[in-house]
Amino acid sequence: MQNKNMTAEVTFQPSMLSAMVPLGSLITEAMMEAGVFIPLDCGGNGTCGSCLVSVQGEVSEPSDAEKRMLEPSQLEEGWRLACQTEVLGDLSVFVPETRGTSESSWQIDAGDIVPGERGTPVIVSESCEIPAPSLDDPRADLRRVLKVISEQGGIERLYADIFTASQVTDLARRHDWHLNAFRRGRELVGVAAPGRGPLGLAVDLGSTKLAGYLLDLETGEIIASKGRLNPQVSFGADVVTRLQKAVGGTVESGRLTDMVRDAINGLAQELAESVNADCGRICEMSVVGNSVMIHLLLHLPLEQLGAPPFVACMDQATDIKARDIGLDSAPGAYLHLPPLIGGFVGSDNVAMVMGGDLDRPGTCRLGLDIGTNTEVVLVLPGEEPSLLIASAPSGPTFEGAHLSSGMRAMGGAISKVWFQDGKSAFETIDGAKPAGLCGSGIIDAIAAMLGEGIINGQGHLDQSNERVKADERSISYVLVPSEHSATGRDITVTQSDISQLQMAKGAISAAAATLLSIAGLESKDLSEVLMAGSFGSHFDVVSARRIGLIPDVSGADYKQIGNAAGRGAQFVLNNREARNRAVSIPAMTRYVELTSQPKFNSLFARSLQFPAQCPSRNG
Ligand code: FES
Repeated sequence: MQNKNMTAEVTFQPSMLSAMVPLGSLITEAMMEAGVFIPLDCGGNGTCGSCLVSVQGEVSEPSDAEKRMLEPSQLEEGWRLACQTEVLGDLSVFVPETRGTSESSWQIDAGDIVPGERGTPVIVSESCEIPAPSLDDPRADLRRVLKVISEQGGIERLYADIFTASQVTDLARRHDWHLNAFRRGRELVGVAAPGRGPLGLAVDLGSTKLAGYLLDLETGEIIASKGRLNPQVSFGADVVTRLQKAVGGTVESGRLTDMVRDAINGLAQELAESVNADCGRICEMSVVGNSVMIHLLLHLPLEQLGAPPFVACMDQATDIKARDIGLDSAPGAYLHLPPLIGGFVGSDNVAMVMGGDLDRPGTCRLGLDIGTNTEVVLVLPGEEPSLLIASAPSGPTFEGAHLSSGMRAMGGAISKVWFQDGKSAFETIDGAKPAGLCGSGIIDAIAAMLGEGIINGQGHLDQSNERVKADERSISYVLVPSEHSATGRDITVTQSDISQLQMAKGAISAAAATLLSIAGLESKDLSEVLMAGSFGSHFDVVSARRIGLIPDVSGADYKQIGNAAGRGAQFVLNNREARNRAVSIPAMTRYVELTSQPKFNSLFARSLQFPAQCPSRNG
């Protein structure tokens, strides 16, 4: 019997992070202890293979799930599923860089870095020269600073809290009573040395990725940006799994809250350091996210959100002191949270609507923010409500998860596939040797295989094709033979991969069709299709139309608009009009809960098929 009081040291390569854990712990538990976060796409059920690691040391025998997922030769070489393998002694665990562990897979595109609109600023910076105290003038430090700001700005009844007061006393003496003061309405929220302006942080808190933007609040310029993995992926790829675990008590919701707050702090610190500043100059923050992520960030009650009718604890726009939830910033800084819409559709969707100008007058158009959950917005100009919004459970397939040769969009990922003279050809990110298929690669591959007749309309592989192999485990098309791949294994498109993609694209397509049907419209009535998010901005539009991921409408404009939610988060950071605009969006929106729509299931079943027509590259 194992002695649970005994511990073992688990060291992870290449990060060299380590943790002491009780014998019998799973390797995934040691990972979390050590701060090594990888996406566990199936939530640790041993069915996705996303936690594949190489192990040296004493571990438990392979589980049935591992025997199903891994080849005998892999098990012999020491490859194991971290979610299934127990630690029985000191271990060295190698975590390959082919999945979410790579920093490079979390970068934000340079194209996302677009300065937001200016407007009435939330934070005003004042350069102050303050009379030093003397025996004749022994007023308190804060009182003398507030007096100067008040006289300069013509503002009465200024105030600050004790944390800002402490900063004033310290900095005023260090800088000979010259300060930059940051005012928010009548409140002094922070001070800095002369010449150092206020900074702001806008965060798009995604289920998989956090995108952070550091802004100079005086100029409105984005001075740094960075993405990072949402560490909660270690508790499941999608928010529904995390919500179920938190509500069911499998994981403490406070732990999920701490993880995401730590991730925001880590992001803030990296961004500030990249411009030789510290987090103490961040005077204002904005965070947007889906309803579950915002509830977890604020540690709000979750139970009512996890069951019909999926009700939020609160949904209005809110300003709270950033320090009250442990976010590193100027002592008096506030965190602004735009309103949520309904169900799981949160402030990220409000931000996406703003970032894509979907609340502005225009034509009938469809906006899609494709991710683990895909937000679908139908814009009906002149109608009330003018926005129909639904959230489609598209899963992590487009991030390369659950695919036999899937990987995230990083060096070595096949991102483009086509056929030339009957033979498949491909292109990889960075031109590196192919290691697997990312989301845009699988869309291209399936579109191209449909074009060649290797896949039929139902999604079945043609087994008479010379590159289609069948054994007792799977039927697969070999896109890259093992001798040409970076992993030494075939890169394949299996029958199961095709089914996964049909489910994901079917959910999105059925959501769009449901909204159109509610509005009494058809896809031919759309004049524009806008695709947001890092994946939505990179796939090939013709391939996406070919497989039915997005509506195929001849004459419509197709636009890939980058991280519109991140842009919306920047808009509301330091702009009072943008905040009012965000508040007005839920009122012009009808949230459609798809599970309550009788048509959704039949439309979903129909959407699983691939369209018969092939859009031309010009149309
Ligand atoms: S197989 Fe381990 S997380 Fe899915």
